[in-house]
Parts: sequence; structure tokens; C-alpha cells
Amino acid sequence: MTQHPPKPFLYVVVCAAGVAADVGRLITAAQERGWDVGVFATPVAMNGFFDTAAVEAQTGRPIRSAWRTPGEPRPFPPPDAVVVAPATFNTINKWAAGLADTLAVATLCETCGMGVPVAVLPCVADTLATHPAYQDSLVRLRGMGVRFGEPYSGEEQGGVRPEFPWERALDLLD
Ligand SMILES: Cc1cc2nc3c(=O)[nH]c(=O)nc-3n(C[C@H](O)[C@H](O)[C@H](O)COP(=O)(O)O)c2cc1C
Repeated sequence: MTQHPPKPFLYVVVCAAGVAADVGRLITAAQERGWDVGVFATPVAMNGFFDTAAVEAQTGRPIRSAWRTPGEPRPFPPPDAVVVAPATFNTINKWAAGLADTLAVATLCETCGMGVPVAVLPCVADTLATHPAYQDSLVRLRGMGVRFGEPYSGEEQGGVRPEFPWERALDLLD
């Protein structure tokens, strides 16, 4: 029987923004591009922002949100790349500041020492994006080599809400 090499492993970190409801589209696109996917979600995102059962069925793995107990093995292999989508104002600022108070942010903080590509699609309202702490966070994370998609506020333009650019996250990893 032919042995196939393992697929590269992609961490997808999901934050509590409204567009998270469609994160299945990102997972499908990533799988079509040959990634094996494991999802991390912030505790707030786990609380009704997306269909957690559907995502677990799609990835074939439990979503990681809480810390494992000390004796438990790490449920996911180390990542070959990391995507944060959607990324909230809150998580971006905590990550830049090194405040590892959720498993999702702690995992992001660790990626800076892993040498793997990290791509972020922010979903942040224009009113919040002007906050100086947020601007400083973007500078700091870019300085760490983190790749950012274009700003996305989720606000309507001409009566239409622009599509969240899920696939852009995967393009940024190339
Ligand atoms: C329905 C809803 C939609 C939200 N959408 C966003 C959003 O698009 N961007 C954002 O930064 N925060 C958004 N928030 C606020 C975040 O959920 C809140 O700041 C939360 O603390 C973020 O937690 P997390 O970064 O740990 O996921 C939204 C809140 C609600 C209730």
C-alpha cells in the first residue's frame, strides 16, 4: 500500500466576531489546498459565534479553547502555519502585549518563536481601529513578521456588507 506523507498542519484561531459564523468556508478552502486543520477558539467565540459541532465534524478534531490538564498530551501536532480569522480588536491587542490569558492568545504568543508563517484577517470596526493601542499592536505584530490582510470593518458599503476575505488568509501564507 502506498504511504502518503502527512499533510501540513494549519492552526486556525477563531475570535468572537460576527463573521466567525462562516469560518467553515475558511476550513473548506484550507482543506482544498491540502492543509490538515485544527481549530482554536477564544472562550467568547465558543459561546454562540459559530457552529462548533459543524467545525469539529469538518476538521475531525475537537476545537481547542481551554487548557489541557498537565498530564494530558498535546492534542494537535505543532503547526506548519497559523491563521487568525476573524481576529478581534481584543485578541490582537492582547497578543501584541503578550497577555496570554486564553489558550488562543497564548498559542499566538508562542508562534513568534516557532518560525512558521502567521496570517491575520482583522475584523475591527473603524471606530476601534483608530485607537492608538490598536495601531501600536499592528506595528508590533508586523515587526514580529505577522502578515495582515486588508482592514475589514464589517460595515456596509452602499447598503451591502462586503464579503469577509477568508481565502486571503491562505494566500498570505504563500
Ligand atoms: C454579535 C457580536 C459581534 C461582535 N463582532 C466583533 C467584531 O467584528 N470585531 C471585534 O473586534 N469585536 C467584536 N465583538 C466584540 C467581541 O466579541 C469582544 O470584544 C470579545 O471580548 C472578544 O473576545 P476574544 O477576542 O477573546 O474573542 C462582537 C461582539 C458581539 C456580541
